Amino acid sequence: MKNILITGGAGFIGSHVVRLFVNKYPEYNIINLDKLTYAGNLANLKDIENAPNYTFVKADICDFETMRELFQKYQLDGVIHLAAESHVDRSIKDPFTFAQTNVMGTLSLLQAAKEAWGNDYEGKRFYHISTDEVYGTLEFDGTFFTETTKYDPHSPYSASKASSDHFVRAFHDTYGMPTIVTNCSNNYGPYQFPEKLIPLFINNIRHGKPLPVYGKGENVRDWLYVVDHARAIDVIFHQGKIADTYNIGGFNEWKNIDLIKVIIKTVDKLLGNPEGHSVGLITYVTDRAGHDLRYAIDSNKLKEELGWEPSLQFEEGIEKTVRWYLDNQEWMDHITSGEYEKYYESMYENR
Ligand code: NAD
Ligand code: DAU
Repeated sequence: MKNILITGGAGFIGSHVVRLFVNKYPEYNIINLDKLTYAGNLANLKDIENAPNYTFVKADICDFETMRELFQKYQLDGVIHLAAESHVDRSIKDPFTFAQTNVMGTLSLLQAAKEAWGNDYEGKRFYHISTDEVYGTLEFDGTFFTETTKYDPHSPYSASKASSDHFVRAFHDTYGMPTIVTNCSNNYGPYQFPEKLIPLFINNIRHGKPLPVYGKGENVRDWLYVVDHARAIDVIFHQGKIADTYNIGGFNEWKNIDLIKVIIKTVDKLLGNPEGHSVGLITYVTDRAGHDLRYAIDSNKLKEELGWEPSLQFEEGIEKTVRWYLDNQEWMDHITSGEYEKYYESMYENR
């Protein structure tokens, strides 16, 4: 493989994947396709934007004609598909955009790949990045999502991701396209859009703003450092079995309220505040509609078959993350000032 399309490369996870591939594989041409929605930010890729093996294309994956042209122009061998609408709260307010981008956009890419590749799939690969949310929710019973757990999505976001996963697998089963799907747990780390729990709370603590905890804060998420996700994507793209599925996660479950206390403690420590200084910012608010109780990924298959394991312990990862956001206030302020601030305030007030 030589010409690799990465979609959604200006987003949170995509930017880490693009960076890793551009730096590690000088022999590849990396084409980053992104529509630059509110979540896409080319500032996430400043350090590699002039690399000779990197090209940025601003386009919408739903635009089928443009996707067709792209496959012809760049003679693409591989696709790593991350472009999506990714925020559950937004999907509750506006499900249409999620069906459009996540379902129709994925289908448009698949169809463009099928037309370009014909029946000659030698050396080709279509790798779709999905989420553990498609599996639904778990009780507090020590069980995990495995690769054979039945799909049971609850939010418009997870329903749209589940649908796109089914389309990808259908293109393998129907047309023989060499596809792979992975389902990953919650990512954290630098460059995450500050509508998501961890960067939102770090930023709110810095500004002394309320920390809106949904419900009782008892929901559990399984957190993985984003660079470890990018490392897993690299391993799976190159060594994963065609038509297979891999779960990606760090066996790192946290009840929201406990995680929030770790964030508060770390931010206060790094800002030089006395311990407990920002605890009073915790504000319990109306729960998210259809809020899944617990996610927990069993990633043993990936470890046993492809030797991948997370490289970072959570304590180290969270401190690194908090430090990054505090050191990169300009990046954060650029996003949170102006239009986005107004949007966030109105979302917050109308919950
Ligand atoms: P993100 O919202 O930060 O980035 C999404 C990117 O996709 C943005 O750059 C945006 O501009 C681009 N995009 C959106 N619609 C587009 C369109 N129509 N055409 C072209 N580009 C478009 O998302 P993220 O958190 O980086 O997630 C990336 C992928 O990983 C998504 O598919 C998501 O479902 C999946 N995922 C995310 C997590 C997580 O914890 N964030 C976990 C598991 C899986
Ligand atoms: O599990 C993987 C998924 O993780 C990805 O597929 C999604 O793209 C990604 O957004 C993420 O979804 P979550 O809904 O789990 O992430 P979020 O950061 O929005 O919320 C994490 C938890 O924190 C969740 O239980 C809701 C809660 N929460 C979130 C926000 C934004 C709050 O209590 N308060 C908040 O303000």
